[in-house]
Amino acid sequence: MNKSLGVRIKNISLKTPLLTASGTSGSKDEMNLLQNRKKILESLGAFVTKGVSMNESLGNREPRIVEVRSGLLNSIGLQNKGVRKFFEEDVPSLCQYKLPIFVNISAGSVSEFGALAETIRNLDKHNAISGLEINVSCPNIKKGGAAFGVDPLLVEQVVKEVKSKVQDTLCIITKLSPNVTDIAQIGKAAINGGTDALSMINTLRGMAIDTENRKPILGNQIGGLSGPCIKPVGIYMVYECFRKISECNKKEIPIIGIGGISNCHDVLEYILAGATATGIGTQWFINNTVFEEIHNDLKEYLHKHNETLENLIGKAHSQS
Ligand SMILES: Cc1cc2nc3c(=O)[nH]c(=O)nc-3n(C[C@H](O)[C@H](O)[C@H](O)COP(=O)(O)O)c2cc1C
Repeated sequence: MNKSLGVRIKNISLKTPLLTASGTSGSKDEMNLLQNRKKILESLGAFVTKGVSMNESLGNREPRIVEVRSGLLNSIGLQNKGVRKFFEEDVPSLCQYKLPIFVNISAGSVSEFGALAETIRNLDKHNAISGLEINVSCPNIKKGGAAFGVDPLLVEQVVKEVKSKVQDTLCIITKLSPNVTDIAQIGKAAINGGTDALSMINTLRGMAIDTENRKPILGNQIGGLSGPCIKPVGIYMVYECFRKISECNKKEIPIIGIGGISNCHDVLEYILAGATATGIGTQWFINNTVFEEIHNDLKEYLHKHNETLENLIGKAHSQS
């Protein structure tokens, strides 16, 4: 392990701070297709899987992806094969890569989140999974479909429920939605619920309209915006959470910064804002050598400045 690039999330050592962002890369099929797989695996600190739910979900109506200026709108709608098939078909392959695996989970109610976490714990006979990333951006069926992630009380309940099912066997990451007024308030709620780490940001709600047929382009009409255009929002939210949480929390809660990362400087910005690690999504669709490029450039930056990454976490705060 390159000491200067290594970071920790709870008790899990990551050899680099680069993670796949849920739903965008790192599925076994994608990885198996890649010629530069070995280099990617050397560059990655962990896999974060696509969102998994208790039962299979077919996702939203097509079209589900549209390119917009400096970004991407998607309305995949959490399409997935369901947790049992995921364990049968995907987990054995992902294990071969010998990286920590975080399973991104989504559910329609607090109790369903708990049942899913319990099922994962029972299915994970060989302790292949390092942790769960709770996607609180998914709709709460019991509250008319509004996302869990906009309500601090619900976020706390979801995290508590998941934590009660897995205890300390899995690291719990709560992935926050940016579609809120005060992200730190939601982050604090997740901490009160017992989360071990936070990740942010998920996609921003957005829409695109076809001017010829005068209708929304996405089959679902509304989608989630990702890519370079959301990076300043992600940086701000990590900065804000780090600042407000450090003020009132004795224990440090690692943050995984996600949103619009394209290069090494974007990763460094997130780290300086307060992130311990970072997730990369949309850029992977554009450039499948992004992980190795960032890995090399980070090493070069740290060498040039004689620094370790851990030493840079939150450094932008001491300048303000
Ligand atoms: C096609 C697509 C699918 C996604 N699926 C999920 C998902 O299943 N669960 C989740 O928490 N986030 C999901 N996301 C959000 C990403 O993990 C990430 O938070 C977001 O795209 C911002 O990062 P980026 O700008 O690097 O893509 C998805 C994003 C995209 C573009």
